[in-house]
Amino acid sequence: MVFCKNSLALFCLLSLACLILLLNAQDSTQDYLKAHSQARAAVGVGPMTWDNNVAAFARNHANQRASDCNLVHSSNRPYGENLAKSSGNLSAKDAVKMWVDERACYNNNSNSCAAGKQCGHYTPVVWRNSVRLGCAKVKCNNGGTFIGCNSDPPSFARNYANQRAGDCNLVHSSNRPYGEILAKSSGNLSGKDAVKMWVDERAYYNYNSNSCAAGKQCGHYTQVVWRNSVRLGCAKVKCNNGGTFIGCNYDPPGNFVGQRPY
Ligand SMILES: *[C@@H]1O[C@H](CO)[C@@H](O)[C@H](O)[C@H]1NC(C)=O
Ligand SMILES: *[C@@H]1O[C@H](CO)[C@@H](O)[C@H](O)[C@H]1NC(C)=O
Ligand SMILES: *[C@@H]1O[C@H](CO)[C@@H](O)[C@H](O)[C@H]1NC(C)=O
Repeated sequence: MVFCKNSLALFCLLSLACLILLLNAQDSTQDYLKAHSQARAAVGVGPMTWDNNVAAFARNHANQRASDCNLVHSSNRPYGENLAKSSGNLSAKDAVKMWVDERACYNNNSNSCAAGKQCGHYTPVVWRNSVRLGCAKVKCNNGGTFIGCNSDPPSFARNYANQRAGDCNLVHSSNRPYGEILAKSSGNLSGKDAVKMWVDERAYYNYNSNSCAAGKQCGHYTQVVWRNSVRLGCAKVKCNNGGTFIGCNYDPPGNFVGQRPY
């Protein structure tokens, strides 16, 4: 990147177009990577590497937001995504710092945020499975800055819950490699109550016939207790209509036809 900057500077001596190029080039990939790596190292997670495909996705979305500078997430994204904006010239370092500062509100033991606080921008930064990063910055038409970072692979459950915030519908994710259970409520559903709804189907599960009682559901229960599922990831989102959407993913997935859960 140093070489890249030098050649840009040289180009700038020769052309007026350099002004625009410098504005786009001002925050280097290393600035984004370093800020992420430091937060990850602090909790024993290895660094991500820059990925041009992920960065192209971030660039495309940032460019789309230049007109309004609103913190609106990209749709149908296959990545984790953090956004930041400022009325001034926000640096890459400061954008990532805003996200990482939510660490104070994250409880690692319960894997949840402090009551009424956000920590969902911190968790993608330190998400262990995410190994590729791409970010982009754009100067908005109103003079402010918009910065977006995408990470790959994302927290599957978080990514999907965010996608459902718009409609809060119990629609399953597509092409998922995991088992998946969803719950929603018009109020503030707790994780505990969501899982209780699924576990309460136990009453309808007949182990001898390995089937559910007539007209009843028990497939959420069998996934919860599926022996081979050993990794769990869940996410909750407040829907735009004020309700709650909760999704849990299970790896490896359960509920194979003809097999008993336990
Ligand atoms: C977070 O919690 C997990 C599981 O309880 C534990 O293994 C890990 O060491 C904790 N990390 C930090 C940074 O406290
Ligand atoms: C904006 O800030 C960056 C550092 O984040 C700096 O390199 C750049 O020169 C600044 N641009 C303007 C137009 O002030
Ligand atoms: C929703 O419920 C959770 C507990 O499940 C609680 O921590 C959180 O503060 C509540 N949020 C609101 C907006 O009431």
